[in-house]
Amino acid sequence: MTSQKVDYDALIPNNVGLADDPKLQRALEEWHPGYIDWWMSMGPDGFQMADVYLRTAISVENEGWAKFDFVKMPEYRWGILLAPAVDGRTIPCGAHVGEPAWQEVPGEYRAMLRRLIVIQGDTEPASVEQQRFLGATAPSLYDMRNLFQVNVEEGRHLWAMVYLLQKYFGRDGREEAHELLRRQSGSEERPRMLGAFNEETPDWLSFFMFTYFTDRDGKMQLEALAQSGFDPLSRTCRFMLAEEAHHMFVGYTGVRRVVKATVEAMVAAGIDDPSDIEAVRALGVIDLPTIQRKTNLHFSLTLDLFGSEESTNAANFFNAGIKGRYHEDKLDDDHQLAGDTYPVSKLVDGALVSVEVPALNALNARLRDDFIDDCQGGVTRWNRVIADAGFDFAIRLPHPAFNRKIGEFSGIEVSPEGELLAQADWDARRDEWLPTAADRAHIESLMQSEFRPGEFAGWIAPPSKGIKGQPEDFLYVKLP
Ligand SMILES: [Fe+2]
Ligand SMILES: [Fe+2]
Repeated sequence: MTSQKVDYDALIPNNVGLADDPKLQRALEEWHPGYIDWWMSMGPDGFQMADVYLRTAISVENEGWAKFDFVKMPEYRWGILLAPAVDGRTIPCGAHVGEPAWQEVPGEYRAMLRRLIVIQGDTEPASVEQQRFLGATAPSLYDMRNLFQVNVEEGRHLWAMVYLLQKYFGRDGREEAHELLRRQSGSEERPRMLGAFNEETPDWLSFFMFTYFTDRDGKMQLEALAQSGFDPLSRTCRFMLAEEAHHMFVGYTGVRRVVKATVEAMVAAGIDDPSDIEAVRALGVIDLPTIQRKTNLHFSLTLDLFGSEESTNAANFFNAGIKGRYHEDKLDDDHQLAGDTYPVSKLVDGALVSVEVPALNALNARLRDDFIDDCQGGVTRWNRVIADAGFDFAIRLPHPAFNRKIGEFSGIEVSPEGELLAQADWDARRDEWLPTAADRAHIESLMQSEFRPGEFAGWIAPPSKGIKGQPEDFLYVKLP
């Protein structure tokens, strides 16, 4: 593996030799003020002058790649960092499998590649926009710090994609980089490109669910792009994955702490029945059925991000060698899939059945299945907290056909267990399965800020350990 040292003193910290590429440097420096404008107007609202205990990437080696210090967010050192090059790396899949990985954009796949990078890039600022008002209701300074950490890193991920656009795609790359700052989450006339990134993140349970499920879609997409035969994209995504792990940690531990506070309060109050919603809510915590409904919502919204189960676009990306499967380089097959099949759940004669389809067309379904497996681990651990407290209740991931707007199941209604429903049955039971106005109102009522060091809002348990080993009462955010 070879990697260049990080030039941390430059205006734009980088390990891509920016100082030796004046044209690119100029393009990025021209883009920079627009980015800062975007960050100031669309980034964390009301906390731009706070000193936040943040990690900043200063190296790409596995050990010690980040340093922790107090930073005002607008002064965060957003850098361009590629994972070390793998010597002799080859294209891992498709028609060119085994050929040396591309260091320049392959002309015949230029448009496809640009589209993939733009779609990935669009999600990064979108989530910052979705989360911009959460600081004001943070349940602790620890959580506030984690929110801002996620936000600045999504900002860096935007830089990562903009670097690729500016360096490798000339004029249209510059235009796309500009557009990434113009679209806006939830906007009528210029929305973000993907549905889940135009939804609101109005409260902290939504934030934890988003970072658990939707950032995990990000992880899966980055994993697939890390398998790209276009080596700069692969290296960029490999380093982003190091940061992404923390985002899912925030989501996993966040939901776990919510569950913990709930079951502890129930035990203390002597409540045995998790479905006694009124009694549980009166304790100032979030009842388990509401957590289940939030799980159903965020999981199903996130599944839509994988696109149609069967997709010729996905087949084209794979054939071209610009997007692989999850862990492509560890899979043991010919990496071309010409005659192979893959089982996809489909609606046939009014029933959901598993059908073998050409594997090349089923790559979205496959990545989605890998995602579902990846989601289950944390859910199982949430359930352990519930079981350990003595309750007979388990959070379950709903059936993949539940509440879908894209793909094979978009036209049907299905229960979380996978039972096909007539529209009237769905309408009658929807409120059992998806968050209701009353659920939202209860969550909303709990969103009171707690800014005293070491204190936590009652609806969420403290974390088991501090960031970077800091004590529980550490002042993670110094408010101005
Ligand atoms: Fe990201
Ligand atoms: Fe993320």
